Amino acid sequence: MVESALVIEDLHVFIGTAHILQGVSLTIAAEPVAVIGRNGMGKTTLCDTLFGLRWAESGRIVYGDHEITKIKPQVRSHLGLAYVPQGRRLFPHLTVREHLALAAYASRQRGQGASRVDVLELFPKLGELEDRQARVLSGGEQQMLAIARALLTRPSLLVLDEPSEGLAPVAVAMMVEALRRLSGTGMRLLLVEQNLRVAASLARQLAVMVNGRIVEETRAADFLQDRQAQERLLGLQV
Ligand SMILES: Nc1ncnc2c1ncn2[C@@H]1O[C@H](COP(=O)(O)OP(=O)(O)OP(=O)(O)O)[C@@H](O)[C@H]1O
Ligand SMILES: [Mg+2]
Repeated sequence: MVESALVIEDLHVFIGTAHILQGVSLTIAAEPVAVIGRNGMGKTTLCDTLFGLRWAESGRIVYGDHEITKIKPQVRSHLGLAYVPQGRRLFPHLTVREHLALAAYASRQRGQGASRVDVLELFPKLGELEDRQARVLSGGEQQMLAIARALLTRPSLLVLDEPSEGLAPVAVAMMVEALRRLSGTGMRLLLVEQNLRVAASLARQLAVMVNGRIVEETRAADFLQDRQAQERLLGLQV
C-alpha cells in the first residue's frame, strides 16, 4: 500500500467544446471519499480522467510519488489504480470464471500477481456462480463480479462509479460491507454515487459535485442532517 494520497488539482476537462470539469480539486487518503452529484454533473468524466480514459486540458493528478496526469491507463493500473465503471461493463456471454481468468491473466502480464482466492473469499457467492454467464447474473452478482475483476489487479486505490445503480437494497448492503472490509485492509476508496444514503454509509467525507465543480466538501453525518443543502445541491425533495 502506498502511504501518500491521490491528489487532484484544479482539473479541467473538455468533451468536444463543452467544458465539463471546471477545476476539480480533491484528495483521497486513508478514509474513503464519496463524490455525490446529480445526473450529468461530471462524475463519470472525473473517474474516466483519473483512469486515463479522458485527457485533462489542465490541472494535475498525483498518486503517491507519481504524477499520472498524462500517463496511459495501463501504467496507472500498474501504480495501483483500479476502476469499476458505471454500468459494470461485463461481457454478457462470458462466464464468471472467464471474467476472472481474463483479469488475472491481464494482471500477470503486467506483473501484478493477482489472487483469485482472495476475491472469492471476499465474494464467496461468485465461487458458486463460476459457470454462469454474466448476462444471467442478478445486478448484485454482476456488481460483485465487476469489483472482483478490478481487485485482481491488486489495487491500492479503487474507484467505483455508481456501484449501487440498479441494485436491490440487500445487494447494496452486501456491497457496502465488502467495500468496508477492503477499506479496513488499507485500500483507498473513491466512490461516486447519486445515492446519498449509500455514499454516507461508506464514506465519512462527501464531496458534492455540481456542474463540473466540487462545490462543497462536508462530513457525511452533517450533510445527512441538512435537508436544505441536499435540496440545493442534489435537488432532493424534502
Ligand atoms: N461522449 C459525450 N459527448 C458529449 N457530451 C458528453 C459525453 N459524455 C458526457 N457528456 C456530457 O458531459 C456531462 C457530464 O457527464 P458525466 O457522464 O460525467 O456525468 P455524470 O455525473 O456521471 O452523470 P450520471 O449521474 O448520469 O452518470 C454531461 O452534461 C454529459 O451530457
Ligand atoms: Mg456517470
